[in-house]
Amino acid sequence: MSNVVPSPAQTIDGRKLAAALRVRLKNHVDVLLNDHKILPSLAVVLVGDDPASHVYVANKKKAAEKVGIRSSVHQLPRETSQDEVLKLLHKLNEDARTHGILVQLPLPKQIDTATILRAIEPAKDVDGLTVQNAGRLASGLAGLFPCTPLGCLALIKSVRPQLAGLHAVVVGRSNLVGKPMAQLLLRENCTVTVVHSRSRDLDALTRLGDIVVVAAGKPGLVTAAGIKPGATVIDVGINRAADGTLQGDVDFAAVARVAGAITPVPGGVGPMTIAYLLANTVAAACRQHELTQPDFSI
Ligand code: GUN
Repeated sequence: MSNVVPSPAQTIDGRKLAAALRVRLKNHVDVLLNDHKILPSLAVVLVGDDPASHVYVANKKKAAEKVGIRSSVHQLPRETSQDEVLKLLHKLNEDARTHGILVQLPLPKQIDTATILRAIEPAKDVDGLTVQNAGRLASGLAGLFPCTPLGCLALIKSVRPQLAGLHAVVVGRSNLVGKPMAQLLLRENCTVTVVHSRSRDLDALTRLGDIVVVAAGKPGLVTAAGIKPGATVIDVGINRAADGTLQGDVDFAAVARVAGAITPVPGGVGPMTIAYLLANTVAAACRQHELTQPDFSI
């Protein structure tokens, strides 16, 4: 047995990185307003009374206001019909003063999510969930891309600026996180493996990763046995335990003894998701006014 005690992983501070991005955003918003008389504006559509969604939307609104982005929340009752939501989206698509539109998910069961997402004008799709923006991401074109994967990429680059050739393993294949995360890492010239609920031998697969991004929604799914020594581990999971505390998809205490760097929950990915929603709103406002689209990546 070796006597060498591995040093604990660096904790990647998402709050600090998000605060730095908000400073850049606020500067950009000030220039848009003062030099071009453009007030970037975000419309959030919230249907129903899911408590977590209400908290997320309140946080998004507060963050927008902090950097000078105008935000409006369109709160609709749980029994709202699909047609009513479509009508609202049509109005927001047509409104020149609205630059970004976000429909908070999940939607109540009488509403078909794909139909709703299809109705969002792609140029205003600050969540990057329309098929047009997903196709642009997969095709290597410019567009609006999902905020959580953009935030994860910035967190990764803050500790590993050179990603080309590294093996990245993404756990989860949702349209919101897993798939766009894999595409962004491919664009960075990583070798990418996507692991999902039907994959065999999770530990053996994640152990291949120099970078491991976990977005499975299963508390403590990834343990130290699934991490290569020195790997960068990004935990997207936000799971509420019975005692009310938040827990990620990664066993933080155990993995921190093996990994090189790891994000905490809370204070890791969450603040970065919101910061990139604001970045997408500013980028969308610039594009709609035919100004150069700013690059808020790191
Ligand atoms: N619900 C949970 N996360 C998200 C998100 O990033 N965007 C939207 N629209 N809904 C969500």
